Amino acid sequence: MPASLGGVKADMPRAPSFPGLFSFTSLVRACIKGHSSTISQYLDMQILTNPQELAAQCRAWHAQGEDIALVPTMGYYHAGHEDLMVHARGLAKRLVVSLFVNPAQFGPGEDLEAYPRNAERDAAIAESHGADVLFMPEPGSMYAPDHATWVEVPELAKGLCGQSRPIHFRGVCTVVLKLFMLTRADVAVFGQKDWQQQAIIRRMVRDLNVPTRIEARPTVREADGLALSSRNVYMTAAERAQAPEIRAALLYAQKLTQEGETSAALLREAVLRRWAERLPLGRLDYLSIVHPESMAQLNEVNGPALMACAVRMGKARLIDNILLRS
Ligand code: PAF
Repeated sequence: MPASLGGVKADMPRAPSFPGLFSFTSLVRACIKGHSSTISQYLDMQILTNPQELAAQCRAWHAQGEDIALVPTMGYYHAGHEDLMVHARGLAKRLVVSLFVNPAQFGPGEDLEAYPRNAERDAAIAESHGADVLFMPEPGSMYAPDHATWVEVPELAKGLCGQSRPIHFRGVCTVVLKLFMLTRADVAVFGQKDWQQQAIIRRMVRDLNVPTRIEARPTVREADGLALSSRNVYMTAAERAQAPEIRAALLYAQKLTQEGETSAALLREAVLRRWAERLPLGRLDYLSIVHPESMAQLNEVNGPALMACAVRMGKARLIDNILLRS
């Protein structure tokens, strides 16, 4: 059984000490000091690592009447991240991209240290999309050793990904709110692949009167339908060959809905039957049908409904979703 929300409480006192990330950040430091000819060419974009410098830069822009768009990321960019940046670039005078593999959203035993990183390539990509600042903080500058404040939206975070990742959304909300406070961004752009994440962030922003508008962009996919993800690199060739079936089965469920099927149980069964045949390397984490805003489980699809899933393919945990009805 996946861990329940009770796990959140049990985990809360976990000290925010994040070993293993310093090689990544020292690479950035080396780059900033000019040890890398690749990064030092990108003179139009500032790379900031200090949260207070980011806040000062954003205050200065706002004082000049310039608005700010923010794209929060964990790096290892693919076309999905680039789409977020291109879209955000058109929304405001200034574009801040943050690149921070946020330790607080990884549970014990998850892939924090293995998470793929390529700071130099990412900096080149952010710069090529017109970022004014790439913010790459060190974990220690975002979380004091006695960090004790967490932001949670438990009602929306308890199902789907929150079942097997009980502290994940607490870490996401906390870091995203920090980024909003530091940048005072007018608008922030997220991807719909992480549907639950953007629903939770929208609710946090609404409930806490955060003056940042949230925009969400459709999932960018490979030609065979697989949702782009930094974690796709974890898959073997055999796993990668089967992975498009995740999307194919969700499309099948959408088609059944369009043909009149309304039973959430039957729609789930139809998908699971397909996966049993065509996705033998996959291990189901969850397959759920929920309201797209409240994330409440649905028994009947007779209004807005989202089918969302997480499937483990070897070392990769892949998520995807589809609106059965909007
Ligand atoms: O979606 C992500 O990449 C991360 O969860 C985010 C929003 C950058 C917070 O760390």
